[in-house]
Amino acid sequence: MKLYLDTGNVDEIRKAASYGMIDGITTNPSLVSKEGREFKDLLLEICQIIDGPISAEVVSVESEAMVKEGRELAKIHKNIVVKVPLIPEGLKATKQMASDGIRVNVTLCFSATQALMAAKAGAWCVSPFIGRLDDISSDGMDLIEQILTIYENYDFSTQVLVASVRHIQHVTDAALLGGHICTMPYSVFQQLVKHPLTDSGLSKFLADWETRKGSKK
Ligand code: G3P
Repeated sequence: MKLYLDTGNVDEIRKAASYGMIDGITTNPSLVSKEGREFKDLLLEICQIIDGPISAEVVSVESEAMVKEGRELAKIHKNIVVKVPLIPEGLKATKQMASDGIRVNVTLCFSATQALMAAKAGAWCVSPFIGRLDDISSDGMDLIEQILTIYENYDFSTQVLVASVRHIQHVTDAALLGGHICTMPYSVFQQLVKHPLTDSGLSKFLADWETRKGSKK
C-alpha cells in the first residue's frame, strides 16, 4: 500500500520524507488555505521534496472551467495529479482530462455508485472519505471494501485512495482490505511506528546493558 501524507505543510512533509517512505501527497483547498501561501509556489516546493504523485484540487464547479484549471495545474509539474470533486460536472471534466492523459483524483466520494462513475470516467484514483462517513455513524471501511470489489469485478485500473483517515486502525484496515493508497495527516503517520511496549522494551534492554559484567560504571 502506498503511503501519502494529507497536508499542505512543507515542514510536516520534510519530516515525514526523512523516513524515505512517503510515496505521494494529497492536498485540498482547506489544507492549502491554512498555509497562507501562493498555490503554485507551494506545489512546486512540495514537488521538490517528494518525487511522487501530488494531488492539487480545482475550485471551479463547472466542467469547462475545471478542465481549464486542471490543465494549468498539470502544467506546473509532471507529478501533479488534478483533484476534482465527485459531482456530475467533475465527472465530465475527469473524462476530458483523462482522455488528454492527465491523471485525475476524484475526491469527496461517499458511495459505491459514485466510485463506479469515477472509474467509468477514467479517474486515476478515487478518494473515499472514510473518517467523515464514520463521523455520521456510517462505516467508512465498508465503503472501501465495496469499491475494491466492484473495481476488481470489472478490472478497473482506478486506484482506491483511502482518505479522511483519523487513526492508525484506519490504516491497518485499509491495508487488510488491499487499498492501493492511504493518505493521512502527519499526526497519524507519526503513530504508525509507535508502540509503548517497543519503548519500554528498549529502555529495559539499554538499562540491562549498563549492568553487564565488566561494564564501566
Ligand atoms: O484530503 C481529503 C481528506 O483526507 C480530508 O480529511 O480529515 O478533513 O475529513 P478530513
